[in-house]
Amino acid sequence: MKRRKIVAGNWKMNNDLNEALGLVTEIKGIVKDEVRNDAEIILFPPYISLASIAKNIEKHPILLGAQNVHQENVGAYTGEISVSMLKSVGCSYVIIGHSERRQYFSEDNELLNLKIKRAISGGLVPIYCIGETLEERENGDFWDVLKTQLWEGLEGISAEIAPEKMVIAYEPVWAIGTGKTASTEQAQDVHSYIREELAEIFSPETAAQIRILYGGSVKPDNAKELFSAPDIDGGLIGGASLKSRDFCEIIKAVG
Ligand code: PGA
Repeated sequence: MKRRKIVAGNWKMNNDLNEALGLVTEIKGIVKDEVRNDAEIILFPPYISLASIAKNIEKHPILLGAQNVHQENVGAYTGEISVSMLKSVGCSYVIIGHSERRQYFSEDNELLNLKIKRAISGGLVPIYCIGETLEERENGDFWDVLKTQLWEGLEGISAEIAPEKMVIAYEPVWAIGTGKTASTEQAQDVHSYIREELAEIFSPETAAQIRILYGGSVKPDNAKELFSAPDIDGGLIGGASLKSRDFCEIIKAVG
């Protein structure tokens, strides 16, 4: 079965409500007029804009996700947001383990594993992010780092999981927001390694159908080549997702 490509826009801590609605309206317009492929488009705005954007895209195939979620479903966790809350405002996806969460908020594989399990049991599809730092790439440790992130993050998840209920994003930390992209060959090597590991964690059949996204300075001028690699099933886009024209050119690069 062909894997449907995903183009996901991670807005991070950008755009207030008005700016968010403006950006979505522009994206909808360009997608309607110019996008002819079947890319799955997912937007990840800050929490406060989710409900309004959900209304704005009601009759549009664009999907919605959150940038993070708490591992418990209810309780005294001031400032946190649960899976069922995200579902109630129209989210179907959630990013889990973005390197900025790992780096600035001390989220580790064990915690991320709880979040992934909570997302799945509550009916959200996790986009689980893994990736090595520059130091880990340069000293050659990165294969082990990626392996540990995968095995610990996905520990205890049923091998029977439906492949469309799980997405992995490979985001080398040294390529995020730096303008440095992994070469298509570097990214493809890692993606094929991730798929081999997923075959062991789940099954070869499931691994063959799970989407693996690349993230890290994806731009209109490098998206087409990256997306043409056999194991790259789309992108998680940061900076370029904040400009409607750039984001839509990346969507068009799906082919
Ligand atoms: P970038 O971010 O495209 O700005 O490098 C990617 C990400 O952090 O998901």
